[in-house]
Amino acid sequence: MNQKVALFYFSGTGNTWWCCEKLATQLQQLSLETMIFSIEQCSLEDIDHAIEQCDLIGLAYPIYGSDVPLVMQQFITDVLPINESGKKLFVFCTQLMFSGDGAYVMEKALRDKKWKIQWSAHIIMPNNVCVSAMPFPYSNERKKLDPILMRAENRLSDFAKAIIEEKTYKQGSSFIAKPLGLSQRAPFRKMFPNMRDDISIDEDRCIHCLRCVHICPNGNLTVEKGKIIAHGQCMLCTRCYNYCPAKAIKYHGKSHPMKKEKPYQGPVKTFKPEDICNKIKIRQVSNDEMDSVRTLVWNTFLEFEAPDYSQEGVDTFHKEIIQDEMYLKECEVYGAYIEGTLAAIFSTKRKNHINLAFTNKEFQKRGLARMLFHKVQNHIKNDGYNTITVNSSPFAVPFYEHLGFHKTAEEDCIHGIRFTPMIFHI
Ligand SMILES: Cc1cc2nc3c(=O)[nH]c(=O)nc-3n(C[C@H](O)[C@H](O)[C@H](O)COP(=O)(O)O)c2cc1C
Ligand code: SF4
Ligand code: SF4
Repeated sequence: MNQKVALFYFSGTGNTWWCCEKLATQLQQLSLETMIFSIEQCSLEDIDHAIEQCDLIGLAYPIYGSDVPLVMQQFITDVLPINESGKKLFVFCTQLMFSGDGAYVMEKALRDKKWKIQWSAHIIMPNNVCVSAMPFPYSNERKKLDPILMRAENRLSDFAKAIIEEKTYKQGSSFIAKPLGLSQRAPFRKMFPNMRDDISIDEDRCIHCLRCVHICPNGNLTVEKGKIIAHGQCMLCTRCYNYCPAKAIKYHGKSHPMKKEKPYQGPVKTFKPEDICNKIKIRQVSNDEMDSVRTLVWNTFLEFEAPDYSQEGVDTFHKEIIQDEMYLKECEVYGAYIEGTLAAIFSTKRKNHINLAFTNKEFQKRGLARMLFHKVQNHIKNDGYNTITVNSSPFAVPFYEHLGFHKTAEEDCIHGIRFTPMIFHI
C-alpha cells in the first residue's frame, strides 16, 4: 500500500484523541502518511481538501450508550462528502466495556453516501463517566491507567497491520452485534432528549474562568450577566464536568463531591481539551454578546452589500437593524467563533426565516456560513418545519443558490432595501 490517510475524530475527554495519535504513529511506521483532524477544529475546506488528497479515510469517536456522539452523527450526515471515487474507510470507537455494534451504528448513513466500512475496531479505554448518578469506577492513577492503555495500543497495532495488509478486521459487524448494541442504544436514545438538560452550575463553587464555555463542543454553555447558563443542548461528553478547575459543574443537580478524586483527566497528563476543540465553535450567541454581532453585521454590510443599495437602503438598514436594540434580541442568532473571536453569524426570525447572515471579511472562504447554515437547518428541522425562507440581498443570491435555495419571486425593493425572496426545502 502506498497511500495517504485522513483520520477525523471526536473526543470528549481525550481517550479517542490518544488512540488516534497512537494509530497515526503506527500507520506512519508502516509507511502510511497519516493526517489526523479533530472535527471540532477543521473547516469544510480543510475536510474537502484532506479527503481529496487521501486514499483512505478514518473515523473515530467515543461510545455513548452504544451510540455515536451527536457531533459525529452530524459530521457524517451533513459534512462528509459523497464518496464518488470509491475511497476506502475504516471506523473505530473507544469504549469502557461494551457497545455491541459501536463502529457500525452509522453504517447506513455512510452507505447512503457511498462509503463502505472496510475495517472496524472497538478499543477499550478508561472510564470517563465520573458523575454520582452513574457510579462507575474511574481513576487518574497511572498504575490503573497504564495497563489499559498498553492493551489499547496493542489492539491499535493489530488494527493498523490489518489495514496495511488489507486483511479482514471487522469488530461490531457480526450478526449478533447489532441486537446487542440495540439493547443499549434503544433505551439510551429514548432517554437522550431528557438528559440534554442535566448539566447546571454550582454558583457557590464557580470561579467564572469560562473554561466550560470555551471547551463545550456543542455550544451548550454561554455566559449571561456574568453567570454560566446551560441551554439544554448537552450531548453528554462530560468534558465540562471533568475539566472544570473548581468542580463546579453539576450533573442531575449534584456537584462532584469535594473529597472525591478529581474526575477523569484523560489518558495522559499532557492532554488539554483546548488542544482539540478551540479553532471553530458554532454556538448560539447570548444577548450579552449582541454588540459584537452589530459591529460584525454593520462592517460587513458596508463593505459587501451597501454598494448594491441606494443611500435610502443603507439608512434603513442602519436604523432598523443596527440602531434598534430590540431587533437582534427578538432573533435567534448563531455565531461561528474562531479562537474566541466572532467570525460569522446566521440569525433566524419567526423560527424558519433567515434574516441575517454575515461573515467577517477576514474569515471568508472557510465554509463558516455553510457550517452555520447546517446548524440552523438542524434546529429548524427539529422544530418540525420543512422549509426555510430568506429575503436575500443581491450580493448573497449566488450563495443561497449554492446551498440549494431557489427564488420564489423576482427582486423587490422596500425603503431602498433590495431583496429576492427564496426558499429551501429541508
Ligand atoms: C454518556 C456516556 C455514555 C457512555 N456509554 C458507554 C457505553 O455504552 N459503553 C461503553 O463501553 N462505554 C461507554 N462510555 C465510556 C466512553 O465511551 C469511554 O470512556 C470513551 O473512551 C471516552 O472517550 P473520549 O475520552 O474520547 O471522550 C460512555 C461515556 C459517556 C460519557
Ligand atoms: S469551568 Fe467551572 S469554574 Fe470555570 S466558569 Fe465553568 S463552571 Fe465556572
Ligand atoms: S455541556 Fe458539558 S457535557 Fe454537555 S456537551 Fe457541553 S461540555 Fe459536554
